[in-house]
Amino acid sequence: MLQGKFVVLGVTGSIAAYKAVELVRLLKKKGANVQVVMTRSATEFVTPLTFQVLSGNPVITDMFEKPVRWEVEHVSLADKADLFVVAPATANIIAKMAAGIADDMLTASILATRAKVLVVPAMNVHMYCNPITQENISYLKEKGFSVMEPEEGFLACGYLGKGRFPEPDKIMEVIERLVGNSNDLKNKRILITAGPTREPIDPVRFISNRSSGKMGYALAEAAVERGGEVILISGPTCLPQPAGLFKYIAVETAQDMKEQVLKFFPWSDVVIKAAAVADYKPKCYSERKIKKKDSEMVLELTKNPDILKELGEKKDKQLLVGFAAETDEIKENALEKLRQKNLDLIVVNDVTAEGAGFEVDTNIVKIIYKDGSMEELPKMTKKDLAHVILDRIVQILRS
Ligand code: CTP
Repeated sequence: MLQGKFVVLGVTGSIAAYKAVELVRLLKKKGANVQVVMTRSATEFVTPLTFQVLSGNPVITDMFEKPVRWEVEHVSLADKADLFVVAPATANIIAKMAAGIADDMLTASILATRAKVLVVPAMNVHMYCNPITQENISYLKEKGFSVMEPEEGFLACGYLGKGRFPEPDKIMEVIERLVGNSNDLKNKRILITAGPTREPIDPVRFISNRSSGKMGYALAEAAVERGGEVILISGPTCLPQPAGLFKYIAVETAQDMKEQVLKFFPWSDVVIKAAAVADYKPKCYSERKIKKKDSEMVLELTKNPDILKELGEKKDKQLLVGFAAETDEIKENALEKLRQKNLDLIVVNDVTAEGAGFEVDTNIVKIIYKDGSMEELPKMTKKDLAHVILDRIVQILRS
């Protein structure tokens, strides 16, 4: 997949810079032409010569050094690249990319490129969790950059936490996906629902659940990366709208979600229902704020429509994917849902397991197929899981 591809690897001043050496070796092994660009501080950690020997290309460290051939170097790099990888990426380079600063060869080339850019952050846990860094990362994602999640563990600074450079093998998987597979959903129309629904009680109160929307948004981002035409129908979340969508539709209640999903159902080839739809809503909505009384209060609830079940009844060409959050008899309950709702596959998580389910960035799931077979997946980020789910969908579409 990487044979003959031109990959620009930007190395910045993190202690993990030495791990990028292994990344160059793996990229070369797969046949990529690798051009390393180092920031000045990166050269304090590893010598350019190391990267030069392994990549077989002179390393660029200075925007104004005499070029080997006469061309505007940052523009030529930007144009030639099939992919930019910034690994490791410091908080500093992330902030510069987010601000559009172009004061060295790496930042100037990134600003000038139309190729995909993969950012692999590695830094101290507090720098990573700092709201400024987090906002910069969200902003980059919003603008279409791919950003990998750092790993948790012991960091070079002595702290324990999030910020470790991922294993080069894992980075390679993402690179291959971005360069190689990126079109396996081309011409496919994918409808994804995400987040919770809100069922109003009165003008200031509502019933909802703990869904953050992260899984559905990760699926939407991943499907766009693979060339799909994606509509994301989302309940209220705090997440930035993914870049490159065909349509983004914000909804509030299960009823709103149902109307939008049914409207676009005939358009879609694949429907992935990652939303946590409230099963019940208040029977009566009070136009006025309900005042407290001394007595107990009883709130009567009525059932919401089961959107996925209705889709299962209407389905013709569409491939239907459901999610299930279970706490016990996981396989039996999920298989029952798959059959009742006429699904092609169902992704089920045990929400009681640590690192699975609501609000976290990782998930531990099992995928259950129509024939009753079950695949158990290890703990992984929601973005990685999104790609595994899409891999399975592509397999079914091709079979
Ligand atoms: N779903 C839906 N409409 C609903 C409830 C659920 O479309 N009113 C979808 C969800 O988006 C999910 C799947 O159905 O893909 C399973 O949701 P879940 O809440 O786990 O299952 P339920 O069928 O609601 O059953 P229970 O709450 O009893 O586990």
